[in-house]
Amino acid sequence: MKPDNKKELLRKEMKKKRSSLDNAARNEKSRKIIETLCRTKEFEQSNTVFCYVSYMDEVETNLVINHILRNNLKLYVPKIINNEEMIAIRLSNLSDLEPDKIGILTPKTGEILLEPIDVVITPGLGFTRKCERLGYGRGYYDRWFSKNSVKTKIGVAFEIQITDNLPVEKTDVPMDMLITEKNTINMQ
Ligand SMILES: Nc1ncnc2c1ncn2[C@@H]1O[C@H](COP(=O)(O)OP(=O)(O)OP(=O)(O)O)[C@@H](O)[C@H]1O
Ligand SMILES: [Mg+2]
Repeated sequence: MKPDNKKELLRKEMKKKRSSLDNAARNEKSRKIIETLCRTKEFEQSNTVFCYVSYMDEVETNLVINHILRNNLKLYVPKIINNEEMIAIRLSNLSDLEPDKIGILTPKTGEILLEPIDVVITPGLGFTRKCERLGYGRGYYDRWFSKNSVKTKIGVAFEIQITDNLPVEKTDVPMDMLITEKNTINMQ
């Protein structure tokens, strides 16, 4: 089977697994993941962070976003432009967020990223213990990582999203760390 088809099948399977968690489980696991993340030296030593704003079944990022803003770190969040590219926009205030076309909270306006990023908190549908990543299939993160300078790419996921093998292509950018509610893997 071609990697594309394998990836599509795995995405379906992973989406199903992830949606099997109820709100309470997702909440509790997300809290554990974010607590672990905030205690890593990579995060503790960071000044600039790029973090997605969680949507639907994703690992919830509200706690880390609040932590970043409270501690006056520089926060950037993703914005998709023209349905084809992801850019990083500075977010200083939660009130600057509004739902985009599909309902993902994004900043209305804000400065575009012009500095290196210390930590990227990266969503995904599947990960391996080697920190390989399966994203949502648009290549937004893979392309963004190929163009931007990042010290530490951290994948966050529920343990049920970890799999032994993923069909990996040349353009798939692996993570430097992976954090689930049960394990932390550091490749650096
Ligand atoms: N750096 C790149 N340059 C050009 N095309 C790329 C690059 N990275 C990924 N792509 C292309 O984008 C498409 C989607 O990639 P892929 O299936 O790996 O998505 P994904 O990793 O699941 O998505 P995402 O990165 O948004 O989470 C593929 O056709 C892939 O070849
Ligand atoms: Mg990819």
